[in-house]
Amino acid sequence: MIVNPLRSLILAAAGNEAVRRAVASAPVSRDVVRRFVAGETVASAVEVTGDLVEDGLRVTLDYLGEDTTDRARAERTVQAYLALLDRLHDVGLAADAEVSVKLSAVGQALDERLALDNASRVCAAAEQCGTTVTLDMEDHTTTDSTLRVLAELRRAWPDTGAVLQAYLRRTLDDCVALAGTRVRLCKGAYAEPASVAFVDPHEVDLNYVRCANVLLGGGGYPMFATHDPRLVEIVGERSRWYGRSVEDFEFQMLYGVRPTEQRRLAAEGHVVRVYVPFGEQWYGYLMRRLAERPANVAFFLRSLVSR
Ligand code: FDA
Repeated sequence: MIVNPLRSLILAAAGNEAVRRAVASAPVSRDVVRRFVAGETVASAVEVTGDLVEDGLRVTLDYLGEDTTDRARAERTVQAYLALLDRLHDVGLAADAEVSVKLSAVGQALDERLALDNASRVCAAAEQCGTTVTLDMEDHTTTDSTLRVLAELRRAWPDTGAVLQAYLRRTLDDCVALAGTRVRLCKGAYAEPASVAFVDPHEVDLNYVRCANVLLGGGGYPMFATHDPRLVEIVGERSRWYGRSVEDFEFQMLYGVRPTEQRRLAAEGHVVRVYVPFGEQWYGYLMRRLAERPANVAFFLRSLVSR
């Protein structure tokens, strides 16, 4: 995570319709999109998943789309997940691939009950296919609602994963509450006010380590989603201190980010899961990835002029 004017500018552009149209209509953006997004269809997502699994990695798949304010679109998202899960099952990849779901994509802004019902359908299909669901965490205004829906889902599907964001001041308490369960810990990707989030990257890192200690010391299954080399090393060291074997926790990274490191950790015996987004609604996701790293913006701008 970087906290600077460039990050704020890119995150603002993520919500700007004119910028979205300009980026989406430039054919040259496609190479950049392809670096971070596994195509627009279920078939392309499953193909990428197969390649990653062959390389010894596991996968969590995200059908792109967020902030849905219409029921029909929420329904299309559910249908996409159901088709994806069927396909993963049919090709024998369900044991190595789970799905990540954003509640805002299945109707959270319309009605929490609708999001719960829709997420329940995805959880039920995942269970039938022999895999699980993790609920992504979005901006802080949705945290309480997402944790309420998670608690409901876990009554029927106790393995449903939670995501907690180390940049939120509340997260250490949430880690204590959820330490006995499946929890993905990330730094957090949204532009949040200082009233609820640490803004100094060093403070975020310190909180990440505090939270990692709580999760490793609990009886659950922690999933450490970070590309930060220092945090990867600290988590490795702390996991040994807590007597965790390599099967007792996992590292997670994004598709297209530090792919060599993903394979290095897997070759060392670690469980490494790659977060693979796919679908037509790639714009907001791509903007968050660009905001994380100035080098990605340069890569993006170069691709715009180098064709
Ligand atoms: P940080 O951003 O500090 O980067 C550390 C180093 O990693 C950088 O110096 C660079 O070397 C490398 N790096 C990081 N990002 C890069 C990029 N985009 N391109 C190239 N190199 C990069 N967030 C959220 O709010 N809700 C969620 O549900 C999730 N879910 C999620 C799942 C998974 C599997 C991952 C890996 C991440 C998320 N995130 C997320 C995103 C997360 O909050 C965070 O924004 C990013 O992971 C970047 O933070 P890092 O921990 O990598 O550190």
